[in-house]
Amino acid sequence: MAVSYKEIGLVNSRELFVRAIKGGYAIPAYNFNNMEQLQAIIMACVETNSPVILQVSAGARKYANETLLRYMAEGAVQYAKELGGSIPIVLHLDHGDSYELCVSCIESGFSSVMIDGSHWPYDENVAVAKKVVDYAHKYDVTVEGELGILAGVEDEVKADEHVYTRPEEVEDFVTKTGVDSLAIAIGTSHGAYKFKPGTDPKIRLDILDEIEKRIPGFPIVLHGSSSVPQDLVKIINENGGKLDNAIGIPEDQLRQAAKSAVCKINIDSDGRLAMTAAVRKVFNDKPQEFDPRKYLGPAREALKELYKHKIINVLGSSGKA
Ligand code: G3H
Ligand code: 13P
Ligand code: ZN
Repeated sequence: MAVSYKEIGLVNSRELFVRAIKGGYAIPAYNFNNMEQLQAIIMACVETNSPVILQVSAGARKYANETLLRYMAEGAVQYAKELGGSIPIVLHLDHGDSYELCVSCIESGFSSVMIDGSHWPYDENVAVAKKVVDYAHKYDVTVEGELGILAGVEDEVKADEHVYTRPEEVEDFVTKTGVDSLAIAIGTSHGAYKFKPGTDPKIRLDILDEIEKRIPGFPIVLHGSSSVPQDLVKIINENGGKLDNAIGIPEDQLRQAAKSAVCKINIDSDGRLAMTAAVRKVFNDKPQEFDPRKYLGPAREALKELYKHKIINVLGSSGKA
């Protein structure tokens, strides 16, 4: 039976984006696949009084079971209240690749969906995004579209080069589709290997400027925005891992972007690194340990601290709930 996100205490992203653009900050969009990740996100956002977008990918639905994830998000609303917070929580489908998947998520209580048609020809991207918007808006669910292709691996599609968003297309795209926000490609990419060693790790803030001029005040989203903290990479490598030449987006560039119309910043890989570093360290330091709480507990704590750091020092969303 279909359930409305409003009944479970979630919100869509519309109002949050209006406030974020006016206030010069971005809302954290953190992915979760399991309980510890979700707990860390909620604890971090309550402790910093930040709004939050909980992201679920198709892969997460496959891994954890879609029903379980949806009830976990419902539980998260109550958990935040128990922790003493009244923070706005959005449940968002990350990288939806079909109309049917978006509909299924909306029916199960998602308040926001992404339809990622960036790999399709432009007209197809427009047509599917419009179809999703027409359905989603009937239920007051917000929709994110994407233009441009991020280099690296994106949902099993591999792009060798960035295909930067073409500023001359954005106005036509948002007008024809009616999407509520637009993900753009300006040199960010998914995963832990975003730049080649020895190259200048720079995103194209000039293209962002150009896009903003074409659609002033329209909510912009940045995917692939992990910074790949080198202290975490070091801990992983010192404790049996092998992550060579992992490089992310410098935090000061994300801070700058967050001050503009960029109002949602997606971070997943940094959380994966924080958890992996903590787990590897426990395994190395205490080889006799076999209680999952003894390694997932420290992983959850490390994740919470990472998320708080992002909120306070990079996104600027603390105190904005
Ligand atoms: O953009 C991708 C997110 O990091 C989710 O990754 O598809 O492996 O769950 P995933
Ligand atoms: P990262 O891999 O840089 O964390 O990006 C995550 C993302 O864009 C999720 O949609
Ligand atoms: Zn993404």
